Amino acid sequence: MLFSPQRIAAACQTAVPGLTIEVVAETGSTNADLLARLDQLAAPLLLIAEQQTAGRGRAGRSWQSARGASLTFSLAWRFRLPLQALAGLPLAVGVALAETLATLQLPVQLKWPNDVLCNGRKLAGVLIETAHDRQSGDRLWAVIGIGINLAADAALTARIEQPVAALSDLLEIDRELLLAALLDRLCLTLQEFEQFGFPAFTQRWNALHLHRGQHIAIVDHGQPVLDGVALGVDDQGRLLVQTASGRSAVVAGDVSLRAVAA
Ligand code: ATP
Ligand code: BTN
Repeated sequence: MLFSPQRIAAACQTAVPGLTIEVVAETGSTNADLLARLDQLAAPLLLIAEQQTAGRGRAGRSWQSARGASLTFSLAWRFRLPLQALAGLPLAVGVALAETLATLQLPVQLKWPNDVLCNGRKLAGVLIETAHDRQSGDRLWAVIGIGINLAADAALTARIEQPVAALSDLLEIDRELLLAALLDRLCLTLQEFEQFGFPAFTQRWNALHLHRGQHIAIVDHGQPVLDGVALGVDDQGRLLVQTASGRSAVVAGDVSLRAVAA
């Protein structure tokens, strides 16, 4: 059965003027769909797909999902902020996901910049894409796409080249109530981010940091570009790494973090 937008809305506690919730049975990518509709939007829109056939990940990678085995949704949200002020937004969204799951007694950690991991396995990912608001000039739309594994069947995990976690192996869930809880915290996070920026999230992100004090490498298109000990993030969401030649601050962009065996 499809998600019920009415039940999700009824369970939400955060008031967001004009927020609409839509559900589709199948689409390529909820991020792509919302990006294509931004010119017609005047208020935030949450689009939930039961199934995505061309889910997008960061840096042109793909997000795999199977019908009924995933939560795949995107929220279009308008900010009165310049593009450079959104640099830490993906990390703040990672904090929102992790804090929501923590309220369900599921301890998760964050892999820089914004993967959500449980017991070292990837449970959720965030992809944020932005566009200028052509109606207002001084505003920006962010399409915040989130994928969370509900169940991990063998065919799905075989298509993913890293260890995967799934929520239903970890806790009993009502997926609509979970979506409502995620939407609540996400909206609060976006309001807080607009007002205070990433500094409001720095300590919270660092408290969830999976690789703190560990030897890591930063890779760019598969090539190692830096290695050292991960210290945590600064107020811009950059990863601070203690290298042999001093401290470096790494900007997320298209680079990836890999743990280095001790
Ligand atoms: P990083 O964010 O550090 O670059 P990453 O390798 O996880 O790490 P992302 O672009 O964030 O890269 O996410 C895309 C990757 O996520 C894919 O290349 C794949 O390894 C993994 N992936 C795809 N679908 C799923 C899924 N349903 N569950 C867990 N992981 C997935
Ligand atoms: C990542 O870890 O690289 C990010 C994955 C983001 C996946 C979500 S699923 C909903 C939304 N639509 C997409 O095509 N991607 C995001």
